[in-house]
Amino acid sequence: MQIAILAAGQGKRMNSQLPKVLQPIAGQPLLAHVLNASRALSPRKLCVVYGHGGDQVRATLAAPDILWAEQAQQLGTGHATQQAMSVFDDTGSVLILFGDVPLIQTSTLQALLDTAGDSHVGLLTVDLANPKGYGRIVRDTQGSVIRIVEDKDASAAERAIREINTGILCAPARLLRSWLSRLSNNNAQGEYYLPDIIAMAVADGIEVRAQQPAQEWETLGVNNKVQLAELERIYQRNRANTLMEAGVTILDPARIDIRGELICGRDVEIDVGCVFEGRVELADGVKLGAYSVLKNVKVGPLTRIAPFCHFEGAEIGPEGVLGPFARLRPGTVLAQDVHVGNFVEIKNSQIAAHTKANHLSYLGDATVGSRVNVGAGVITCNYDGANKHRTIIEDNVFIGSDSQLVAPVKIGRGATIGAGTTLTRDAPEDALTLGRARQISLSGWVRPTKPKKGD
Ligand code: UD1
Ligand code: MG
Repeated sequence: MQIAILAAGQGKRMNSQLPKVLQPIAGQPLLAHVLNASRALSPRKLCVVYGHGGDQVRATLAAPDILWAEQAQQLGTGHATQQAMSVFDDTGSVLILFGDVPLIQTSTLQALLDTAGDSHVGLLTVDLANPKGYGRIVRDTQGSVIRIVEDKDASAAERAIREINTGILCAPARLLRSWLSRLSNNNAQGEYYLPDIIAMAVADGIEVRAQQPAQEWETLGVNNKVQLAELERIYQRNRANTLMEAGVTILDPARIDIRGELICGRDVEIDVGCVFEGRVELADGVKLGAYSVLKNVKVGPLTRIAPFCHFEGAEIGPEGVLGPFARLRPGTVLAQDVHVGNFVEIKNSQIAAHTKANHLSYLGDATVGSRVNVGAGVITCNYDGANKHRTIIEDNVFIGSDSQLVAPVKIGRGATIGAGTTLTRDAPEDALTLGRARQISLSGWVRPTKPKKGD
């Protein structure tokens, strides 16, 4: 079996610089979704027919298994299919998909291929309450499909037909090639219509077997940003349903965005407005607060994340307490029961168990031991304008508020750093280290006063 994906259309109604098939659903180009569904069928050949924005489309989706066929001028879906036939052979069947129908499911396509076999035509159709704009499926009195008529060419009686052409079909390669060569563009749009092969198949005595998709939304196309948003919601709702069926609590499945892989353990709870990118793992009992964005993050069991957190490239241990408003950047590894509070940013740092940084801190390129208390406003000065340096904080250290740790620097086990210290040299174990101006009080000092009005 060989698959052609028609993707040469301009997508004028998107009103965008980005070619239509590169517009995203769940962060992935529309065409990538169709390619995924196609690849799951293991076709012998996979061809994308490209035209508008071709260079950008090819650069974005480049892969060794894709054969690219250019359609320089968009003369219709039949003409587009012909371009794919130039890279196909005559063995077996050809399945034709549209680049702007992204939610088509592999199972539906497999069922269509099974129905058609190698010697019949398979046609994916659907009954719509409002069939306006689509090609209509015309059947004879016995109920057999005899042809497809485009909306613009249809009579009033034909327009009343509710069964429409989804555009997706499969046909024996050798016959398809000969039918395509006989297409004419003598119609309302002056185009070579792919659906015209249906009448040719019937004339040649080849049976056309129509089949409906498992769900209607699989065949919805994207022509503008409104439809793009509608399909995004359908996609997200499906992802949410799968998670909820597996036991995840999603407080509002209409307010979740999964743009990659989301793996959840048992009794995970996700509040509204969260966004997941890349690969995110939430272990058993994780509670994720509202409006958090997680990208390539692993969260250990029973960790609680308060609202408005932004985590990327981080590994969080079990029983962590994070947020609200916490930021973890790549290279952050937190062990068990680490607390990261509001407006704390951590980058490329390893933090051992039971350590707390609860308020307004920056820890960058730091190795932090266990049971350390990082006071409010403590920052590592890890960057000298040219190089990054490490800060090492050993177990049981207490760092007073508003201290600056000028790296490279090390704080020994059990040390206490007085509030407001600018630490430029290593601090010894178990001692109090202070580095701030001594406090003085001037008793004879007089506060300046404002001149009185009129003076
Ligand atoms: C097509 C069908 C119609 C069907 C509808 C389903 C034809 C003539 N009509 O109509 O029966 O109900 O889809 O959505 O096929 N494309 C090319 N090159 C071209 C023209 C189109 O690659 O020269 C591609 C487009 O990028 C798109 C697909 O083919 O992915 C469909 O083209 P479109 O113009 O949207 O066809 P419709 O008028 O919607
Ligand atoms: Mg269309």
